[in-house]
Amino acid sequence: MTILNIGGAGFIGSVATELFIKNGHKVIVLDDLSTGFKKLVHPKAVFVKGSMLNYNLLDKIFKKYKIDVVTLYAAKIVVPESVAHPNDYYLTNVGGTATVLKAMHANNVKNIIFASSAAVYGVCKKVPVDEKSPTVPCNPYGASKLMCERLLIDANKAHGTNFISFRFFNVAGASKSGRYGMMKQKPSLLIPAINDCVLKHKTVSIFGNKYKTKDGTCLRDYIHVSDLANAALLALDQLKKNKSGIYCLGSNSGYTVLEVVKNVEKLIDKNLKYEFKPNRAGDPDALITSNKKAYQQLGWKVKHSLKDMIVSDYNFRKTMVK
Ligand SMILES: NC(=O)c1ccc[n+]([C@@H]2O[C@H](COP(=O)([O-])OP(=O)(O)OC[C@H]3O[C@@H](n4cnc5c(N)ncnc54)[C@H](O)[C@@H]3O)[C@@H](O)[C@H]2O)c1
Repeated sequence: MTILNIGGAGFIGSVATELFIKNGHKVIVLDDLSTGFKKLVHPKAVFVKGSMLNYNLLDKIFKKYKIDVVTLYAAKIVVPESVAHPNDYYLTNVGGTATVLKAMHANNVKNIIFASSAAVYGVCKKVPVDEKSPTVPCNPYGASKLMCERLLIDANKAHGTNFISFRFFNVAGASKSGRYGMMKQKPSLLIPAINDCVLKHKTVSIFGNKYKTKDGTCLRDYIHVSDLANAALLALDQLKKNKSGIYCLGSNSGYTVLEVVKNVEKLIDKNLKYEFKPNRAGDPDALITSNKKAYQQLGWKVKHSLKDMIVSDYNFRKTMVK
């Protein structure tokens, strides 16, 4: 297949590109490099620097390459920034998705894989969540992702656009080759943020120790980025069968923040220092998801452990993040 991977110079998109190419697909990466990195673009991919908000550019790409599937990983993704600058988030995330869908329709491109998020749930009352749990996002980032899902549903009804939307939970790790992973200097995601502290000899901040969990720190569902890339590969088969759907990608279980810190201590740095800080507003006690639907309909299984996530991210940060 020929895949237009929008956001393919970012963390998750670059790992997906590597797997697509390994499986014989042709990949065109469109990325404006706003948070991405040229060195995360696979050497065998065609790279176009530009924004998904640029309709004419999308139109040109669709006319030049016979695109079978769009994978849309591009987005603004930092929750506090979305609270401070909601218009930018809606413009890029929702406006970008609408622009892509419009250009797809104009060029008769029928298939899209979309990167959604656990943030669509907000502060949920019951865990594990699944695809039928109430979606009440509590920040503009989560709201923008939910709006995008609505755009996909409407494009499906109006134009027969097939879509697979994946709600990712906490993502970590690097690809097996060690070449693609979380490149950002100041990562906000827990596992890279802890490894960053290890490498810079800084103290890890744990926000809150009075949550209703076994050790008082937040419980979260962690998933290896290669497992997510594998889900995209399986989604290609669904799209070929003209099937659409929304899927939660998590592990059915989780680890508390303190458990993750202790694992890094055990696996990487015996002298890791950490301190407790006040709770952050809007952080739920626990957020984990069932992956039953993804298993039953896509055959998707979690293959990587917390140890794989910690160690591969650490090795990637140590060698690639300069
Ligand atoms: N990382 C996670 O834990 C996580 C969790 C849930 C959902 N997601 C979703 O997965 C997707 C990928 O996340 P990531 O962690 O790889 O983020 P990332 O910031 O590493 O990658 C996003 C990429 O999109 C590009 N981009 C941004 N705006 C663009 C635009 N207008 N046009 C073209 N390119 C643009 C950036 O330059 C970057 O390369 C996002 O949609 C995010 O919402 C991520």
